Amino acid sequence: MYNTVFSHIPASHPWREYLHCFDTIDSTNTAAKKMASEGAPEGTVLLADMQTGGRGRMGRSFHSPAGNGIYMSVILRPQCPAQQLIHLTCAVAVATADAIEEAVGLRPGIKWTNDLVVGRRKLGGILTELALDKSGCVDYAVVGVGINCCQKSEDFPVELRDMATSLQLCVEKTVDRAAVAAAMLRSFERMNRDLTNPAAFLSQYRADCITIGQSISLLRGDEIRHGVALDVDDQGALVVQFDDEHVEAVQSGEVSIRGMYGYV
Ligand code: BTN
Repeated sequence: MYNTVFSHIPASHPWREYLHCFDTIDSTNTAAKKMASEGAPEGTVLLADMQTGGRGRMGRSFHSPAGNGIYMSVILRPQCPAQQLIHLTCAVAVATADAIEEAVGLRPGIKWTNDLVVGRRKLGGILTELALDKSGCVDYAVVGVGINCCQKSEDFPVELRDMATSLQLCVEKTVDRAAVAAAMLRSFERMNRDLTNPAAFLSQYRADCITIGQSISLLRGDEIRHGVALDVDDQGALVVQFDDEHVEAVQSGEVSIRGMYGYV
C-alpha cells in the first residue's frame, strides 16, 4: 500500500520517525486522539489504507474504502489557548492544497470551511479535534484529512458519484498515492511552524475559497437561512449577508453553495 511513502520523506525530517502506517483502522482521528492522550509526541502521523469507521464533521461518517484514498491524522501540541487556534481548519485546508499542488500540479479549491473541491465536486475533507487542559490551553490537536486520490468514477458508491472526484480523475493520469501523502506530511510540518499566526494562512485561504461571492444556505439545527458569502474574516469565519440584509460572521454550521453538492 504505502510502501514507498518513506522514500518521499527526507531521513532528517523531524516527523519521519513518528509515522505509523496501517492497512485497516477504525478511524485515524480516533486512534490519534487515544495516542495523544497517552502522551504521543507532536508530529505523530497515522496513515491508513482503509478506515472502517471514518468520521466527518457534524457526526457524519466518511466513506473510506481500501486502495485509493488517503486517510491521515496528525497530532499537534501547540502551547496556546484554544482561542488562538480558531483558524486551525483554515490552516490545514491551505496546507493540504499546497501539498496537492506540489505533488500533482493541481490546486484544489476550498469550500468553507473544511472541504477540498475541484469544480463542483468534493475531493476531500478535514476534521480537526482539540483537547484542552484544565486552564483552557490546548493539550493536543488532531488534524485529520481524507483525500480521494486514485478512484475511478465507478469506485465511488452510486449516491456519491455525481458529487465526488479524485485527484486521478482530475489530472487524468496515474497519481502516486504515497507521494501525495508524503507531500501532505511535509506541508503539515511547515504549517505547524507558524500555526498560531492566522495571517500566515488566511490570505491564501481567501484566494482558494470558492464560497466567497456565492449564494449560500446556512443550516443550523432545524433552521435554514439564505444569503451571499462576502468574505472570510481574520478568525476564519465566513462573513454572510443574509436575505434580510443582516451581515454576520458565521463560525459554525453547515454552509452549502447553490448549485453544488449538498445544497438545501
Ligand atoms: C468531512 O468531510 O466532513 C471531513 C472528513 C475527514 C475525514 C478524515 S480521514 C482521516 C481522518 N480520520 C477520520 O475518521 N476522519 C478524518
